[in-house]
Amino acid sequence: MKWVTTGCIALAFIVAGCSSEPDEETRAQMDGKALFESFCADCHGKKGEGKFLHGIPPNRHTQKSVTEVVRQIREGSNHAKHPMPPMPQITPEEARKISKYLIDTLKKQAK
Ligand code: HEC
Repeated sequence: MKWVTTGCIALAFIVAGCSSEPDEETRAQMDGKALFESFCADCHGKKGEGKFLHGIPPNRHTQKSVTEVVRQIREGSNHAKHPMPPMPQITPEEARKISKYLIDTLKKQAK
């Protein structure tokens, strides 16, 4: 059973790594929703529901503040088993839009 889990996690990272990122011009016009869907949904799902089998938590239940989520996006997490990779390619401004979308929209919808 263990190898199945490991394989899924490896696959999740490969899939996430291959997703094409939008160019700069497109990105400047993207709102929190569009940014979330292009940078986070591969792992966390479109509605932030997570992927249990891949060890990815539903981030729509997060207790973190916008500032903390921005930090997690830019710096990643040091979670022992399933760390979230840092994404410094996301600007602080974009990270803020994403975090607000997660907390103001997805988290409210999940309640
Ligand atoms: C490669 C997969 C991957 C991507 C892409 C990813 N995450 Fe994560 N994320 C994880 C994993 C694994 C965890 C669990 C580790 C932890 O909580 O430290 C996590 C945890 C989180 C948490 C903490 C959950 C909680 O309960 O507080 C937040 C918030 C979060 N991610 C937001 C985001 C946002 C926003 C994006 C998009 C910018 C994103 N993640 C992109 C894998 C990913």
